[in-house]
Amino acid sequence: MHNSRITSPIPLSPPLRLKPNHPHKNFAVSAQLVRNNLGIQASLRVVSAQLQTTKTDYSISDADLESRGFHLRRTPDGLNLTHLNSVFVSVGFPKRDPDKIRTALDHTDSLVWVEYEKTKRPVAFARATGDGVFNAIIWDVVVDPSFQGIGLGKAVMERVVNELLGKGITNIALYSEPRVLGFYRPLGFVADPDGITGMVYSRERKKKK
Ligand SMILES: CC(C)(COP(=O)(O)OP(=O)(O)OC[C@H]1O[C@@H](n2cnc3c(N)ncnc32)[C@H](O)[C@@H]1OP(=O)(O)O)[C@@H](O)C(=O)NCCC(=O)NCCS
Repeated sequence: MHNSRITSPIPLSPPLRLKPNHPHKNFAVSAQLVRNNLGIQASLRVVSAQLQTTKTDYSISDADLESRGFHLRRTPDGLNLTHLNSVFVSVGFPKRDPDKIRTALDHTDSLVWVEYEKTKRPVAFARATGDGVFNAIIWDVVVDPSFQGIGLGKAVMERVVNELLGKGITNIALYSEPRVLGFYRPLGFVADPDGITGMVYSRERKKKK
């Protein structure tokens, strides 16, 4: 951990309460994730969650985050893409062309990142793309390894999901590595709703056929 002020886990209260009542209408996608140049390809498992509320009783409030030196940001303004790339690389994501990251952010509907006051660097990040009405997919959920385990991942996920719900978007999908499924489940994401399985285009597989 970088700083003694944040060595203690941030107190966490119950996560968003998202009710899986109508999984056929509202689903999220989980996937075994294999990284390629684009970031990921996946053999998918579709998951279901009824995301029907826009609760704002976050596990950690904006004020609590601020008091610990973590500033929530909801636009790309002030986001240093080189630093963001460093966080991606530090967790094993591929390093990306900053111009392409900028383009991706320009096409991003919901974005939440956390700036650490002491270093002015991004330490947590999540974003969602979509059609703005029905569907969204969450991408690039990442927390700097030095800041993992203190609630920042949950904090950014809760806020991205809540923003999407606030727009009336209830089909919210994401790709998950198997080892991270347990992180997403309490946030309302469920694998393979009604047996629905997502699929991702694979150039490798297509070549073999
Ligand atoms: C996955 C990741 C975003 C989690 O962020 P984090 O800030 O470390 O997680 P938090 O501290 O917010 O944890 C929130 C809760 O999820 C749990 N959790 C965190 N990671 C978990 C995991 N891999 N599996 C199961 N539960 C997990 C925590 O124990 C905590 O539980 P609690 O609310 O009961 O206390 C972060 O570890 C990360 O960036 N990993 C590398 C990149 C990655 O794998 N991203 C996801 C791509 S699919």
